[in-house]
Amino acid sequence: MRFDVLTIFPEMVLNSAMNGVTGRAIENGLVQLSVWNPREYTSDKHKTVDDRPYGGGPGMLMKYQPLKDALDSAKCSSIAAENVKVVYLSPQGKPITQQLLNENAGLDQLILVAGRYEGLDERFILSECQEEWSLGDFVISGGELAALVIVDAISRLLPGVLGDEDSAQQDSHMNGLLDCPHYTRPEIVAEKQVPAVLLSGNHKEIKQWRLKQSLGYTWLKRPDLLLGKELTAIEESLLEEFKIELKYKKV
Ligand SMILES: C[S@@+](CC[C@H](N)C(=O)[O-])C[C@H]1O[C@@H](n2cnc3c(N)ncnc32)[C@H](O)[C@@H]1O
Repeated sequence: MRFDVLTIFPEMVLNSAMNGVTGRAIENGLVQLSVWNPREYTSDKHKTVDDRPYGGGPGMLMKYQPLKDALDSAKCSSIAAENVKVVYLSPQGKPITQQLLNENAGLDQLILVAGRYEGLDERFILSECQEEWSLGDFVISGGELAALVIVDAISRLLPGVLGDEDSAQQDSHMNGLLDCPHYTRPEIVAEKQVPAVLLSGNHKEIKQWRLKQSLGYTWLKRPDLLLGKELTAIEESLLEEFKIELKYKKV
């Protein structure tokens, strides 16, 4: 999959993406990442990408033309891509969720537009961007961090990017639940023992224990996630067991 980010801070995106999972995915050719700087598509000596808003008011806005030319270059650089989407990162967009990312992990090319200043000339959003996506109900100074979040979160869903194919599938939110707790060596830390079942070698029991913890942790930390979810009879009874065990632990 190919990601293109329109940004006036290309180094910010490239330097961060070249670390860890995304860095390896790019180096191994599993993911392509290109940046397009609207400043490179200006004709004045100051490389102006912003201007004052009509009607007055604070701040500056990103101008239409440098953005449009940068976008055209991003599109032209990958003419073979058929399944292409242009997304403006914006606090006014739909919230970025695991489901949204899963749905878009099959695109050939995802072009992410990172705004700065007070945002973009509205005509660019209306005519060029299919969707707006938001990190949440708060405002940050630029869309680069949102673009990096998306590049990272989608990359880890792509075949071959994570060492273990199952790893992403077991993460929180993939099946509407939170992940179960995990433990590593040593067996006792701060007088706390690793749950015995994890040392038993009984894979069936370990799987069931993990599902119970997953249900229980979701119920404890994010009960809202369970509201729209239909649990199977087994899941219901595991959750009941978790609640009883929790009560017993607290006494
Ligand atoms: C200071 S913000 C502009 C906010 C805009 N005036 C508004 O209130 O809707 C500058 C840029 O940061 C990015 N940004 C800010 N908050 C964001 C969020 N919650 N999610 C994604 N991008 C965001 C957008 O690309 C935006 O153009």
